[in-house]
Amino acid sequence: MGRREKGPFVVAVDGPAASGKGTVASSLARDLGLPYLDTGLLYRAVGVLMQRAGQDFNDVPAAACQALMITADVLDDPGLRTRAAGEAASRVATHPQVRERLLEFQQTFASQDQGSVLDGRDIGTVIAPHAPAKLYVTASPEVRAERRWRQLTGQGEQVSLEDVLADIRKRDERDGGREAAPMRAAADAVLLDTSEMTIDQAADAARRIVEAARARWEASR
Ligand code: CDP
Repeated sequence: MGRREKGPFVVAVDGPAASGKGTVASSLARDLGLPYLDTGLLYRAVGVLMQRAGQDFNDVPAAACQALMITADVLDDPGLRTRAAGEAASRVATHPQVRERLLEFQQTFASQDQGSVLDGRDIGTVIAPHAPAKLYVTASPEVRAERRWRQLTGQGEQVSLEDVLADIRKRDERDGGREAAPMRAAADAVLLDTSEMTIDQAADAARRIVEAARARWEASR
């Protein structure tokens, strides 16, 4: 069977907030020389554009309209990395109409011949269900809260660790409990719990998982 029929080598990295999935995914992309898309930025961009326009996150037509406006160049905005942007993203991400409008952007990215790495909540389940390599990166809520707190305070945000932990728990509930593409590990995803790992250890473990998946993918071509 030819390569085209099998589809490109897509690496799908999913997991909850501050689990380390972004770090793992970007390091995999660097090592493999593949383009990388942090799909959370798309939802963050929709949320931030709505906020800036003074729109209500429950206004579905307005949210869907903002989702249609998203292009690659808005994703570099540092305003997408704030705590408020994360909260806004998880609110707008519950609307199926928003998800639908962001689907094509993500699937076009995932269909590049050279392969790609995408991270998010529904990459292995909805965006690229046939991805040859799937990882589900987790860590305990306490560890994730500490990581996110360090990141936010490092960016100059004034926030307590308790508030960040509360945010993380609320976000897990909203992302896992929503009807549209809830956060789930795909049945064929490899679980990577990074609670006790350093960044380098998590990246190494991910690399080994993806190398094994790549060898299987090459052998089946
Ligand atoms: O970095 P962190 O995990 O906090 O956030 P993110 O990956 O930037 O995602 C922000 C929010 O966007 C998540 O809480 C989800 O509600 C939503 N999201 C989603 O629904 N589907 C994706 N593929 C990516 C993000």
